[in-house]
Amino acid sequence: MAEADKKAGQIRVGEVEISGRAFLAPMAGISDAPFRTIAERYGAALVVSEMIASASLTSGMAEMQRKLRPSGRLPHVVQLAGNEEKWLVLGARMAADAGADIIDINLGCPSKKVTNGYAGSALMRVPDKALALIEAVIGAVDLPVTVKMRLGWNDQQINAPLIARLAEGAGVRMLVVHGRTRQQFYKGRARWEPVRDVVEAVSIPVVVNGDVVDTASARKALAASGAAAVMIGRGAQGQPWIVGQVNRGLTGRGVFCSPDKEELVDVIIGHYREILTTYGRELGVRVARKHLRWYLQRAGIGEPDIRQSSLLTLDDAERVIATVGEMLDFHFQSREVA
Ligand SMILES: Cc1cc2nc3c(=O)[nH]c(=O)nc-3n(C[C@H](O)[C@H](O)[C@H](O)COP(=O)(O)O)c2cc1C
Repeated sequence: MAEADKKAGQIRVGEVEISGRAFLAPMAGISDAPFRTIAERYGAALVVSEMIASASLTSGMAEMQRKLRPSGRLPHVVQLAGNEEKWLVLGARMAADAGADIIDINLGCPSKKVTNGYAGSALMRVPDKALALIEAVIGAVDLPVTVKMRLGWNDQQINAPLIARLAEGAGVRMLVVHGRTRQQFYKGRARWEPVRDVVEAVSIPVVVNGDVVDTASARKALAASGAAAVMIGRGAQGQPWIVGQVNRGLTGRGVFCSPDKEELVDVIIGHYREILTTYGRELGVRVARKHLRWYLQRAGIGEPDIRQSSLLTLDDAERVIATVGEMLDFHFQSREVA
């Protein structure tokens, strides 16, 4: 990919144009439509659905439909994981019917549940199988296909450049590389330098991922890897607007404005209500808890205060909303006084 296009943040994924250099990572149980909507509103250049495991294709339409739901006006990227051609092909077609603009294939998930079935990162150990699955998905839909992977299975098998070349040869249009091996899970620091070997192995855009949390780390990751863009996962928990902030930091463009105190309360409560609508009240109250904890932690409220508030055990949605508002008001007032 041309350096000038990288610097300008103009990335082409097949026919799809992406403007910007900071993307929200797929995170199962987190990057659902309500979360992606906030990231997009605050200027993320791209957002990706939670992984849809092939097995869940048969686990009920309600969950599938929820996961396949587009979140806004950005290209709708649906991520699929699996190790059987027929399920991946079916998943890709269902995603296309649901309005996907891009299909992403997961070659990075380290979870035993996923890798024992030779899906996710385990596919990096069997490049021929990974290639066959990629070709099957590309053949099944008339949409650009991308791949998200790790550096390799372990330090002895760093084969991301090989997989990248195979994927590009098959017609994959963009790659995301998390700078860890599968054996690292999420431990240690992500290594951005080896991602450069992938960048140099292919001419399609490469996105660097792992431990990017702000504009400074994004700049370092881009400089070390030569990638076209960064992808942010855990750094966006409790602050989905950070992706837009980094995008603006890198490109000077974008809609980002950091939520001020009042807006923060509105964003959190709006997110909470959206979760209840998406999952229904009973499940929604539980799904929302981790987000609430992260929001409050990011605002500077300590874990003991969060626990003491019983916020995370309340089942009454209206009381949760009132408690969040009170906690944040009290917190900001005491900071002003101090
Ligand atoms: C809770 C959680 C869920 C994740 N789910 C997915 C997923 O569904 N698909 C995927 O490709 N990666 C998934 N990942 C990996 C992230 O997309 C990302 O590669 C990884 O967290 C490293 O980036 P970070 O340091 O910015 O978090 C998940 C990570 C976390 C922490």
